[in-house]
Amino acid sequence: MAEHSGLFVTFEGGEGAGKSTQIRRLADLLRRRGYDVLVTREPGGSPGAEAVRHVLLSGAAEASGVRMEAILFAAARNDHVEEVIRPALASGAIVLCDRFVDSSRVYQGATGNLEPELIEALQRVAVNGVVPDCTIILDLPAEIGLKRARKRSSGAAPDRFEREEIETHEKRREAYLDIATNDPARCHVVEADRPEEEVATAIAAIVEPRVGALGFAKASGAETAL
Ligand code: TYD
Repeated sequence: MAEHSGLFVTFEGGEGAGKSTQIRRLADLLRRRGYDVLVTREPGGSPGAEAVRHVLLSGAAEASGVRMEAILFAAARNDHVEEVIRPALASGAIVLCDRFVDSSRVYQGATGNLEPELIEALQRVAVNGVVPDCTIILDLPAEIGLKRARKRSSGAAPDRFEREEIETHEKRREAYLDIATNDPARCHVVEADRPEEEVATAIAAIVEPRVGALGFAKASGAETAL
């Protein structure tokens, strides 16, 4: 049972799966319906965590090894949870977060080969009881995702995690699907290799009943039409 009165939805998936586009679309939809929505992301989302994000994505921590990186991701996550996510949920907001604990399980665990016990111990400390109510996993073949991601960054140098090989990306996809199989009440796999509009409709069909079930009070005077 969630300890908060808001709704915590996380978005996961490999490179180029369309997470940010879909988060924006869902946020727009929920706001039009009058809900208080906070969009955030990891690594980052709070001033302290954004500083750590730079260290992680520049590759500055890479030489120190995956254990160091995992601890840094967890440190950033804890700051983000305590400074931003927990207060927003306590105030009754819907929080949409681009990546969360499952990214650590997949990137540092499945493809970083860090022991699952260490990953889980770090997550327990990092989230300190704030767990997602619902996780949308955007699924698509690694090759397509990478092509999309490269197009998007057109010319910009790939970050520390985008530089890795296609097999690594496929392994991550499998790891996400395993997480979904093991936690079906929380995780929903959405096929992302189809038109943006269709993906958005599928996501709304998953999230909207949860919003409704919680019986949120809408901000007064808000527009309720689609
Ligand atoms: P970002 O630029 O936010 O890209 P994306 O659009 O892929 O989300 O980069 C975040 C990168 O950090 C991404 O490659 C995944 C990685 N990551 C981890 O390895 N572990 C984590 O716990 C998180 C949150 C992200």
